Amino acid sequence: VFAHLVQAPEDPILGVTVAYNKDPSPVKLNLGVGAYRTEEGKPLVLNVVRKAEQQLINDRTRIKEYLPIVGLVEFNKLSAKLILGADSPAIRENRITTVECLSGTGSLRVGGEFLAKHYHQKTIYITQPTWGNHPKIFTLAGLTVKTYRYYDPATRGLNFKGLLEDLGAAPAGSIVLLHACAHNPTGVDPTIQQWEQIRQLMRSKGLMPFFDSAYQGFASGSLDTDAKPIRMFVADGGECLVAQSYAKNMGLYGERVGALSIVCKSADVAGRVESQLKLVIRPMYSSPPIHGASIVAVILRDKNLFNEWTLELKAMADRIISMRKQLFEALRTRGTPGDWSHIIKQIGMFTFTGLNPAQVSFMTKEYHIYMTSDGRISMAGLSSKTVPHLADAIHAVVTK
Ligand code: LMR
Repeated sequence: VFAHLVQAPEDPILGVTVAYNKDPSPVKLNLGVGAYRTEEGKPLVLNVVRKAEQQLINDRTRIKEYLPIVGLVEFNKLSAKLILGADSPAIRENRITTVECLSGTGSLRVGGEFLAKHYHQKTIYITQPTWGNHPKIFTLAGLTVKTYRYYDPATRGLNFKGLLEDLGAAPAGSIVLLHACAHNPTGVDPTIQQWEQIRQLMRSKGLMPFFDSAYQGFASGSLDTDAKPIRMFVADGGECLVAQSYAKNMGLYGERVGALSIVCKSADVAGRVESQLKLVIRPMYSSPPIHGASIVAVILRDKNLFNEWTLELKAMADRIISMRKQLFEALRTRGTPGDWSHIIKQIGMFTFTGLNPAQVSFMTKEYHIYMTSDGRISMAGLSSKTVPHLADAIHAVVTK
């Protein structure tokens, strides 16, 4: 009965790793998926995560019972505090509901399904370009996906005018997906002044902000700085949704741990929103897993572990910034034609190089360098040892 099926294409991002794994070359380099690597090119388990896991193992009272549908309640509270700030009016007034979800993707999906079921506007505007999974998540959630201008290929920076025009033209009440920091794939973020203009425009038109926060602490190295745009929207008393992921900032990729928060106008509404979120979650996966959320809760509740985490996070962010500088320098010393200053201007895990699909495929074929076909490279996958190889490849492809 399935004989009519055609072979589906690999995922544009995760498929890069599949291709990389098949390549026997000793010089191969995976700059596709946004996953942190050490200077030795190895995945990193944070020291603070190991300590938290040890605590969990030592605690013989821990059981493997089902979590409630909303997940680990302490984790939810701590996650809301982390993203909105301990002094957030929404937390103080108890008008926020937070549910544990399966990392960023799961949080976006649950939020999308909730909006499709209960929000009067069914259109969500996403940035052009955006993370490849966004349009699929929201379409399958039952929303209509449209795009707004965001990136200007000419400047390799923000098309702020286009952004304001498109959001200004969106029907009142539309949902707008905003990357809280370290925009994926471009690494281009609005300034705080521009965020303020976006906020004013969105509030004046009743547009519903839905933040995707996948990189808190990774962009600037500071958890508070990276959460600032979200906090500006919460401070004005209006509603918003926030999807949080701990994949990158705690290195908990495979634990699938994240949270969806919905900031409401009153505690009473937040309670009813939560009751409806449970109806979205229960038929999807019943309740979320316990282990990853427990690790996060141990770290966030303990002052010492929390401080240790911020240091490890900063070290990861700093290593990425240093890779940007090294790659930029390597191209400069090679005299590679073109302006490569966007490598040091863009922030977060990715550089949107401006290389086109044909150039990317040349670099994969000739240099065994793997990246998404849109020219995005994960700076977190680079090391001092591999920068020269990448710079050689870029130089070769733009001078050929
Ligand atoms: C990425 O963009 O590389 C990451 O967010 C990983 C993923 O799931 O695509």
